Amino acid sequence: MARVELDGVRKVYPNGHVGVAGASFSIADGELLVLVGPSGCGKSTLLRMIAGLESISAGTLRIGERVVNDIAPRDRDIAMVFQSYALYPHMSVADNLAFGLKLRGHDRASVDARVREAAKTLELDALLDRKPGQLSGGQRQRVALGRALVRNPQVFLLDEPLSNLDAKLRMSMRVEIARLHRQLGATMVYVTHDQIEAMTLGQRIVVLDRGEIQQIDTPMALYERPANLFVATFLGSPAMNVLRGRLVRAGGWALALEDGNRVPLGDALPDAAMEGRDVAIGIRPEHLQRADGGGFAPVVEVVEPVGSDVFVNLRHGAVPLIARLPPGDLPEPGSVLPLRLATRHLHLFDAQSGTRLAG
Ligand SMILES: Nc1ncnc2c1ncn2[C@@H]1O[C@H](COP(=O)(O)OP(=O)(O)OP(=O)(O)O)[C@@H](O)[C@H]1O
Ligand SMILES: [Mg+2]
Repeated sequence: MARVELDGVRKVYPNGHVGVAGASFSIADGELLVLVGPSGCGKSTLLRMIAGLESISAGTLRIGERVVNDIAPRDRDIAMVFQSYALYPHMSVADNLAFGLKLRGHDRASVDARVREAAKTLELDALLDRKPGQLSGGQRQRVALGRALVRNPQVFLLDEPLSNLDAKLRMSMRVEIARLHRQLGATMVYVTHDQIEAMTLGQRIVVLDRGEIQQIDTPMALYERPANLFVATFLGSPAMNVLRGRLVRAGGWALALEDGNRVPLGDALPDAAMEGRDVAIGIRPEHLQRADGGGFAPVVEVVEPVGSDVFVNLRHGAVPLIARLPPGDLPEPGSVLPLRLATRHLHLFDAQSGTRLAG
């Protein structure tokens, strides 16, 4: 296994579009790193540059100790798993697994041994004679993983490998991949646009938006201290609430919203210099709590009980909010539900740039 290091790695497509604006980070030996971001943010571009399927416009890419910018994909000792699986339909599972190894001139005995071992790891033993058309989506996915596995590469690159599966299967395959990662101790880069997949699978997560890295950290650090509004609202489900307005003091702190409504913030704000500042305040749904007094009074629109929690969709003036409340008495749509912000859990961002402010 190996460490992967990117230093200012940049991709400008021939039409001038900047796919990746310049990425600098490293993936530790044996780490499972997730690249996450919305469609078009440059995840596949970045992964394909690591794989060698896309040329690098600027910067340096190292796998192990070696600079690989100009090394052909087949000589980089990586294996990539695609969203589309790309299995050969006319070949059996066994032949699909063996194909890449045979192509590289491995002898028959070692090919057979590796195929048997991968089939065992992925529980494909009983399916080796079938054609891909005779497999379920999850089984096909396991064959695609198996094809990477038999190669025993330095680095595994996975581009949205689970996105063709239904929700339940995706969850079980997610656990499967995490187990595989632990078992192999492999270096893996995993691309997804699904923030839940990113949070549950990644040891660290790189959040991308429009070709730019927004933040790199562990899942919980990203959740608890997002560096900007993009990261704050991208990670977490339901998404973080955002209230825009001006910080004022009236006894304690309050946020004066554009529509004239006020939201009390208690005493938990940093320093007096913040007074009069235009900000965006982020508060996660679980940090909106029922208030007995001293809160604010949004109107309930839609109540969604999901068993362990109740998601309450509200509106405060023009501002939509969502609160995650413990199960119990369900509030009535149309009623006023007094809430307060758990002020220790406020996130404060600059109104213009969206950058996190102190605290
Ligand atoms: N060959 C190309 N020429 C010009 N622009 C391209 C090319 N390939 C991709 N792009 C653009 O580069 C940006 C990043 O594309 P990329 O495929 O890396 O996105 P992604 O994050 O993988 O998105 P998705 O989640 O939809 O797969 C997109 O805006 C895309 O339209
Ligand atoms: Mg992609």
